[in-house]
Amino acid sequence: MNYSDKNTSKALAEKLLLENYGIIGFAQKLPGEIDANFKIETAQKTSYVLKISRAQEDIAYLDLQQKLLQYAAKSNPEICVPEVVLDTKGKAISTFEDENGQQRSLRLLSWIPGRIWSSVNPQLDELRFGLGLQCGNLTATLQGFTHQKALRNFDWDLAQALWVKEHVHLFSLSEIECINYFLLEFESNKKAYDVLRKSVIHNDANDNNIVVSDDLITPKVKALIDYGDAVYSQIINDVAIACAYAILHHRDPLTAAIPVVKGYHSAFKLAEEELDFLYNLIGIRLVISVCKSAINKIKEPNNDYLLISEKPAWELLYKWKNTNKDFASYQFRAACNYNAHPKEAAFQQWAFNNSFSLVDVFPSIQKSKIHPLDLSVSSKWIGHEVEFNDLDLFEYKLQKLQKEHTDAILAGGYLEPRPLYTSTDFDSIGNNGRMSRTIHLGVDYWLPEKTPIHAFLDGEVVVANYCEGFKNYGGLIILKHQTSTFEFYSLYGHLSKESIEQIKKQQKFKKGACIGYLGSQDENGSWATHLHFQLMLSILGFENDFPGVAYHEQIEVWKSICPDPALLFKTNETEIKVDSSNKELIDYRKQHLGKSLSLQYKVPIKMVRGAGVYLMDEHGTKYLDTVNNVAHVGHEHYAVVKAGQEQMALINTNTRYLHENINVLAKELLKTLPKKLSVLHFVNSGSEANELALRMAKSFTGQKDIIASEVGYHGNTNACIDISSYKFDGKGGSGAPEYTQIFPLPDAYRGAYRGSNTAENYSMEVGRCIEKIQKKGRNVAAFIIEPIISCGGQIELPEGFLEASYQKIRAAGGLCISDEVQTGCGRMGKTYWGFQLHGVVPDIVTIGKPLGNGHPIAAVACTQEVADTFANGMEFFNTFGGNPVSCAIATEVLKTVEREQLQKNALVIGDYLKSELNKLAMEFPILGNVRGQGLFLGIELVDSKQNPVPKQTDYLLNRMKEYGILMSSDGPDHNVLKIKPPLVFSKENADELLSTLEKILKEDYMRLSFK
Ligand SMILES: Cc1ncc(COP(=O)(O)O)c(C=O)c1O
Repeated sequence: MNYSDKNTSKALAEKLLLENYGIIGFAQKLPGEIDANFKIETAQKTSYVLKISRAQEDIAYLDLQQKLLQYAAKSNPEICVPEVVLDTKGKAISTFEDENGQQRSLRLLSWIPGRIWSSVNPQLDELRFGLGLQCGNLTATLQGFTHQKALRNFDWDLAQALWVKEHVHLFSLSEIECINYFLLEFESNKKAYDVLRKSVIHNDANDNNIVVSDDLITPKVKALIDYGDAVYSQIINDVAIACAYAILHHRDPLTAAIPVVKGYHSAFKLAEEELDFLYNLIGIRLVISVCKSAINKIKEPNNDYLLISEKPAWELLYKWKNTNKDFASYQFRAACNYNAHPKEAAFQQWAFNNSFSLVDVFPSIQKSKIHPLDLSVSSKWIGHEVEFNDLDLFEYKLQKLQKEHTDAILAGGYLEPRPLYTSTDFDSIGNNGRMSRTIHLGVDYWLPEKTPIHAFLDGEVVVANYCEGFKNYGGLIILKHQTSTFEFYSLYGHLSKESIEQIKKQQKFKKGACIGYLGSQDENGSWATHLHFQLMLSILGFENDFPGVAYHEQIEVWKSICPDPALLFKTNETEIKVDSSNKELIDYRKQHLGKSLSLQYKVPIKMVRGAGVYLMDEHGTKYLDTVNNVAHVGHEHYAVVKAGQEQMALINTNTRYLHENINVLAKELLKTLPKKLSVLHFVNSGSEANELALRMAKSFTGQKDIIASEVGYHGNTNACIDISSYKFDGKGGSGAPEYTQIFPLPDAYRGAYRGSNTAENYSMEVGRCIEKIQKKGRNVAAFIIEPIISCGGQIELPEGFLEASYQKIRAAGGLCISDEVQTGCGRMGKTYWGFQLHGVVPDIVTIGKPLGNGHPIAAVACTQEVADTFANGMEFFNTFGGNPVSCAIATEVLKTVEREQLQKNALVIGDYLKSELNKLAMEFPILGNVRGQGLFLGIELVDSKQNPVPKQTDYLLNRMKEYGILMSSDGPDHNVLKIKPPLVFSKENADELLSTLEKILKEDYMRLSFK
């Protein structure tokens, strides 16, 4: 369409509008392939689309569109479609004669407000489901609609796709190969395709024809527009077209297609035989699209837009070709609640009717019972990662268990989520970031090496392969079995090398024949000797690498492809304990645990295992932990775990007995502290540490008044809550008690004082607190503050503030307490303790969270004078404080920080993160301030006027979680993202965090809500 055409000018559109519809409106040109489209806006704020057809357009074709819209609106008032506006003569299509004397048609439709699909970011599963639902609804609505023009020759009708064959010469060899892959498949199944259900379908749910609501957080698909491609054809084409566009730009297009199919099916039931064609038809739509682009490129060689728009289609086409077609079909079937594998039910029936026993497979063992072996993520039996990777230990534990259960074979693992597959071969990047394969698809039978394996049924060898290397199958055999109605496969992994050498492909085994032997530890490619036995209803084109472990996200499909061997051998005990569901856990908590306990995230996660910087849920899904400064040296650091376990096995008692450990820990801790802080008391938590510090200060000074920061938090006990403005000034709090003086949060970014003299101004506020206390005829007992105020929102104290404040406090006779519960033990990077950043030495230091790496141990370090005054004759006894187990653990934490140079890592990675975050902040001004030290950082999210944006912060957090990254927010306005990961956080981890943050910052809500 020529837009400079006088016959389609804005002025003409406005004139035609008035003449034909009696509407005065302002016209604005819109893109359109065939019609000249205008958005019309009236003074009454009503909007329309005016469509001026090309000259000599077939009126019947326009009539099809108008009738279709009228039919849809009438037969389903619920569905949103553009409304046909009749002209002043009551006609749905008006005509006029253009300047050249040619007849043209005119149509007016209501405008559907919203935005188009292609502009929506992110396009999440819910939105793609909504798209499917909308398309399915429309198809359901159009059942019964007929129009002679719907039956037409049309290049975009997938049923007529074979016209493309004449144009393949336009493509390169690799492109032709890709196109032919889909065309040949289409052509060879055409007979069955031709008889699939047909109706009039929209046929063009492309990313510019879908209107989405303006809601930026939970956008909804509102309507399909542009009915110009409607055609009478196979209904499944409509699903394929919606999928083809909705899965563009996705790393894993198949996974992205599932919600569309689910949505469609929920509105309009798709039949199994239709789903069989869906994979191919998605490819066919893309093939037509790239072919159209190639033809247009010849017509308009300088049109760069054509080049840009065909690129994503090609990218998807290649990806789609590499997607296993059968697996895609199984996924689509599962999405529509059919058995993912079409033979699943037949197999189950067959297995039920036939009797096999484990003795058939292991006649030399003569045991038909099994004893379950739990290798799941939450299994205590497998224990620590280091231990399950210690083959000798693993073997030893197995033998021991076997001795306890002599009458059974140790076995298990079907659909078990396992933490064992730690090699990156088991990981990939999906649409939502990192994914790990954890679900074991077969059953493992733990038996001695050289155990002979026999065929339980006649079978033909389809794979016989030996693959060296740990975490492989070692010797692998796959047999194909034939029943009267279907075929299936059995897989035998971890066989000996010799077994494979003696076997050939296509070799046939009779039931009862020996097919091979279990390989020994050094040749079986895995842990201790065992048989990995797996059943498969298809082998999906895999050769030697049929997966034995799958992604949890695909469990429904895999469990249908790979049935439970227990069905065959009738050994139902393979299933280990079933843990409580998350719902049960939540319900119980609600009923029997204190209501003030909170849960993180809208959909809470159940964590069952930790390893380094990762936490794992019950499915083995790994989350990158950027929050947990308690797991200081890494979750479940083996040296720390071991130190605790070993000491626990010997003795754990209180400090009234002599024990080496408390002294060793004291020495280790004092090495890191200034000489002046030479006396330690051990307690069990940060709260207890601060509680003790307050008692010490009060007994040293004889005073009760404490000065603390606004939004500071120092613990959950009575005295700690009394000095924690974060609590008493927050929800449920009742303000500062009589003996607490609060000074303003020393925030140089958004606080009461900014710019020059910030430190001085805030320390003057501390001075004012002193004066207030003194005016009441009392004096200061202590001043307590964190070197970086964590709950306050990672507030770095202004340079010089601490020194000036300490001077004032000391001049008044008070003590200075540094709460290092969050900041201590090397996290600051530059220094070991936070106060050292400020060149001061406190009178008391409290230490908590990191000291035990998760185990409850905390400490108070103070000067000799303070300690001596405190020891006034009253015994300080703490049942658990300083016990040998806690001390062994804490000592190992401190040693690990030193041995693994974790303070240096905090500095290097922290500086890197901070500088990269600052770069991001330049691009995304919502990141108002990046601050902190080492691996204790904060990012404050604000609008352009520096107002806090807690909703955006919360959105970001929850989206990060969906990408498998755990973050937390804090600050009085809940708008500060905190980054305080285990100190083993690597550059790779930092890069994952940064790139995911960037991705989410680009999302509509984060971008468009910035004002
Ligand atoms: C700065 C600070 N002090 C003290 C505490 C109290 O420590 P705990 O929870 O171990 O009692 C916390 C806990 O979050 C804290 O952040």
